[in-house]
Amino acid sequence: MFELTPEMTKRLVKAAMTARGNAYAPYSRYNVGAALLGEDDVIYPGANVENAAYPQGACAETSAISHMVLAGPRRYKAAAVIGSGPDFCTPCGGCRQRLFEFGDASTPIILCKADGSHVVQTLGELLPMAFGPSELPDNMKPILEAYQARRPDVRQA
Ligand code: THU
Repeated sequence: MFELTPEMTKRLVKAAMTARGNAYAPYSRYNVGAALLGEDDVIYPGANVENAAYPQGACAETSAISHMVLAGPRRYKAAAVIGSGPDFCTPCGGCRQRLFEFGDASTPIILCKADGSHVVQTLGELLPMAFGPSELPDNMKPILEAYQARRPDVRQA
């Protein structure tokens, strides 16, 4: 289980706040920033990116996950999410499931109000009894483990 320090919490909140500054949310006017601490100790930010065809928009967490996976890591240690409203911004249902794919029930998720004040919840608290890779048939496990361990060399792509 990852021990989230106050210093790392501060860094993740700051990175999410900076990412929020690049949100593209002309329709909801609700800007969101997210930041993942990858297993490589690099912070991967993301922001929501909306679309005139409303359902085609992407959440900040989804954007941060894509950012991390594109860079190579397939696990993260902790995440932060910050909205632009007075209440804590909590990941939508779909993003909780996406976050579970690359984290686990013990992964700390920092939920922030617009001003950066925050609470920390585990992903297991946000998504109890999650359906994840461990629910898949046993013969899938070695395939998944090998796949998650693979680090593509993006420079050769
Ligand atoms: N949104 C996120 O990006 N992350 C969340 O955790 C909650 C909601 C976005 C989706 C949409 O662009 C806007 O916030 C309003 O729902």
